[in-house]
Amino acid sequence: MAHLKLINEAPEPARGVTDTLGRPLRDLRISVTDRCNFRCVYCMPKEVFGRDYRFLVRAELLTFEEIARLARIFVGLGVEKIRLTGGEPLMRRDLERLVAMLARIPGLDLTLTTNGSLLAQKARVLKEAGLTRVTVSLDALDNDVFQAMNDVGFPVERVLEGIEAATAAGLAPIKINMVVKRGMNEQSVVPMARYFRGTGHILRFIEYMDVGSTNGWRLDDVVPAVEIIAMIDAKMPLEPVEPNYRGEVAERWRYKDGSGEIGIIASVTQPFCGDCTRARLSADGVLYTCLFATKGRDLRTLLRGGASDAELSDAIAAVWRVRDDRYSEIRSSETVGLHKIEMSYIGG
Ligand SMILES: C[S@@+](CC[C@H](N)C(=O)[O-])C[C@H]1O[C@@H](n2cnc3c(N)ncnc32)[C@H](O)[C@@H]1O
Ligand code: SF4
Repeated sequence: MAHLKLINEAPEPARGVTDTLGRPLRDLRISVTDRCNFRCVYCMPKEVFGRDYRFLVRAELLTFEEIARLARIFVGLGVEKIRLTGGEPLMRRDLERLVAMLARIPGLDLTLTTNGSLLAQKARVLKEAGLTRVTVSLDALDNDVFQAMNDVGFPVERVLEGIEAATAAGLAPIKINMVVKRGMNEQSVVPMARYFRGTGHILRFIEYMDVGSTNGWRLDDVVPAVEIIAMIDAKMPLEPVEPNYRGEVAERWRYKDGSGEIGIIASVTQPFCGDCTRARLSADGVLYTCLFATKGRDLRTLLRGGASDAELSDAIAAVWRVRDDRYSEIRSSETVGLHKIEMSYIGG
């Protein structure tokens, strides 16, 4: 009996894998396309992503079936949260079909990041397919500023309509991502905070990062988190909030008058690599273990070569076990110049 009791009380073997720094694999971002209808200056500058740019062709993209199969394997390795991204994920035709396939995986938190341009048409079908939440990127409320940032003349009202449609469809609370770039939209910080305060949506300010190799990033273009918080605090007093969980990327703040909270993602001035539990899968099936990676592990060849689930799982686990990335913590003048993968391809 004593022996039996011991067996019953033995802890469950921990699901999943950890890397060389003890970080488990918990989140997966899946890029479903490297294409986008915007040309945000900090992500897909027009001069580089022009007419001649070679985007992935259809046969190179993972099919929805391939993505869903990999997603299940990742969940078996400990992933609890999947975010669909891109490029612009809503440009991938019938994305709701993929959402429905992923929503069937038990215990998975399934979200999506979008520029909001197609959200007014898509919010309801996405919700019906099983999407739980959505993050919408929006860099300014002023049309001139917003259009200068998306660089395709897309009007801000259409994104606001998308946010409303998502709210009506039941995808709220919505996270709104605003990248702050010096000299472009720091004047929009306070108006954005004022607009979203009291709506229940959570506005998150993102420091402009040196992702990819094409956006001409300079440290001078970064508006540090402390400066963003000070700008808002001067008009609408703020106080810090405890993180929801270990590894949360956004530092949380709330308005002292109780009218809501904001987040700040300070990956340049306050790097959070120590808690990073995120893997990224590109639209053509390459696994990356860091946003600032220079190379990844091709899973598509394995998939299409007939590998079993166990073989795929072993391949992913092998990549994670040797992971030692902490780019943001060691960022320097040398690392900035590395040939890093573009964010539109790897998935933001
Ligand atoms: C690459 S986008 C992909 C999803 C979708 N197209 C969108 O814009 O939401 C994901 C997120 O990355 C952010 N992003 C892109 N380039 C960035 C950069 N250089 N620094 C900081 N954030 C960036 C975007 O603002 C967006 O919130
Ligand atoms: S940030 Fe999103 S919307 Fe803007 S260019 Fe990149 S992928 Fe497109």
